[in-house]
Amino acid sequence: MNIPTRVLPKDILDSLKRTRPIYALGRRMRFAFGSRLGARKVPGLSGRAHYNDFMLSSANADHVGSYRRGAQQTVDLLGRSLVEAGRDWESVEACLEVGCGYGRIVRELRDRLDPSRIYVTDVIAEGARFTASEFGATAIPVIERSAETMPGKFDLVYLLSVYTHLRRDLVARNLAAVARTLKSGGVLVFTTHGQGSAETAERYDQYWLDKNAILEGMAREGYYYERYPYYYDEYGLTWFRRDAMRAFVAEVAPELKFVAHHPMGAEGHQDVFVYRKR
Ligand SMILES: C[S@@+](CC[C@H](N)C(=O)[O-])C[C@H]1O[C@@H](n2cnc3c(N)ncnc32)[C@H](O)[C@@H]1O
Repeated sequence: MNIPTRVLPKDILDSLKRTRPIYALGRRMRFAFGSRLGARKVPGLSGRAHYNDFMLSSANADHVGSYRRGAQQTVDLLGRSLVEAGRDWESVEACLEVGCGYGRIVRELRDRLDPSRIYVTDVIAEGARFTASEFGATAIPVIERSAETMPGKFDLVYLLSVYTHLRRDLVARNLAAVARTLKSGGVLVFTTHGQGSAETAERYDQYWLDKNAILEGMAREGYYYERYPYYYDEYGLTWFRRDAMRAFVAEVAPELKFVAHHPMGAEGHQDVFVYRKR
């Protein structure tokens, strides 16, 4: 069955988003329907894709191609980050993806790392469960709740497009928990929206977003966050200036040592930060 993840055209979706209760109800119904349908084979992808995989807009060949390329580039980026931190794939006994969604990256990571070494977690429990069962990884509870039970477990933890959506205090909680789960010498890779993204914020094509407000926030305090106005959850779009992020990590997780920062180094618009635990 060829049902796109995004069912409605953007202009209709945008007008629904202006009435939050209606949008929220529609979204809940869409996800409940996707959960019922489960997963299907999509030409061009190894393993099935879940109907709720919001990273795959449709089964159209162009969308599938960019979904897959983005994930492959992320795996390459993780390999380069390991080398920058003085490690390599062979030395990774346990790797965790925080915010795995429905397994876009793990699907490709299996070519580099045996799935028995891959752990996943997401606040969307269905996504983590699907990623684990479809790709042979192990799902763990959200890291803010489970870090205490697994200190020093992972050689590599990565978050792609997660801190790009969280308010600063929620990033702090997550980062402190992630740092706890890293082995000494373990590597952390995460992405943010940085200055380059702020200066080109029109690319996000969000009717509610004010680019000047983002630039002012970045200039004033090196940070800007705005919740999606059509969500009830605390989830939106977040920007951090490089120096602000470095100071923030030093404060929240001082056991992490800075390794590298690559402006716009991921997906063409996200900054990449690499840290290593002392
Ligand atoms: C934009 S998606 C990216 C998914 C995946 N990393 C990828 O690139 O394909 C962000 C994901 O982060 C998850 N997320 C947000 N906050 C989280 C948290 N505190 N712990 C785990 N996952 C979280 C969301 O549920 C969502 O699946």
